[in-house]
Amino acid sequence: MSVFKSVTFDVEHGSSHVLRLPNQAEDVFLFDAGRNQFFSPSEYLKNRWNVERVKCLILSHHDNDHIEDLDDLKKIKPHILSTPTVSHDYLLNHYGGSLPQRLQEFLNFAQEYNVPVPSLDDPSYDWGGVQFAMFSHDEGVHFNLNNLSQAVFVKYQGWTILFPGDLERPGWLEHLNNDAFVENLQSVDIFVASHHGRESGYCEEVFEVCRPKLVIVSDKSTSETSVTEKYTRVSQGMNFTNGKRHVLTTRADGAIYMEIDNMGRHKISTRYDYLTK
Ligand SMILES: [Fe+2]
Repeated sequence: MSVFKSVTFDVEHGSSHVLRLPNQAEDVFLFDAGRNQFFSPSEYLKNRWNVERVKCLILSHHDNDHIEDLDDLKKIKPHILSTPTVSHDYLLNHYGGSLPQRLQEFLNFAQEYNVPVPSLDDPSYDWGGVQFAMFSHDEGVHFNLNNLSQAVFVKYQGWTILFPGDLERPGWLEHLNNDAFVENLQSVDIFVASHHGRESGYCEEVFEVCRPKLVIVSDKSTSETSVTEKYTRVSQGMNFTNGKRHVLTTRADGAIYMEIDNMGRHKISTRYDYLTK
């Protein structure tokens, strides 16, 4: 029986989430391509999951901690690359006139994707019952690069996971003016905390329409602006063997694994090591 899997890897201050879809091909999706000094999610997928090609990389936004794993990513080169639409001038302006080397390498890599593909919610795809809904702002609306993050809702068998990238409060507020976004937000069960759980990514108004069962934070160590307590208050919490948890963090729990079967039954576990699939 095919099972939907979601993994948030522990890449310290970075972002790397993986989906394995329950379709026949068991396609693998990556949300961002962060890594840490010792661990490459792409290398892990190649060696442990025997992934030869990732089906799709969804880059939330053009920031270093989301593309650090580029070298190993090239070895399991995604068929589809989804990035926010941001002009070269915008990026140059944002980075003060000269692009970081890693970003330039990523842009060179992205140039290889020059054939248009249908959007991920196109019915011609077979994602095994998984649905995607994607939202992003135009660069003219918000200057801050984080606020151009693609926010992606992933839905399967009654569950909705939201990957909002590094959205900050202005970006959230703009999205809340969009009825389709709000409709998706209302159904969120698993909320990946924006901007690594930092204060700047938290938006109180979001939780007037959204009461997630669980919040996931991907970060290295507690920063002064980390708002785990706020997320604890707005999360319903889920029961684990060691008690109810409202927030799981990669810094305290390690990698976070979720499985949903075709009846909607779920299993969530955390591990510090990556020795088992
Ligand atoms: Fe980030």
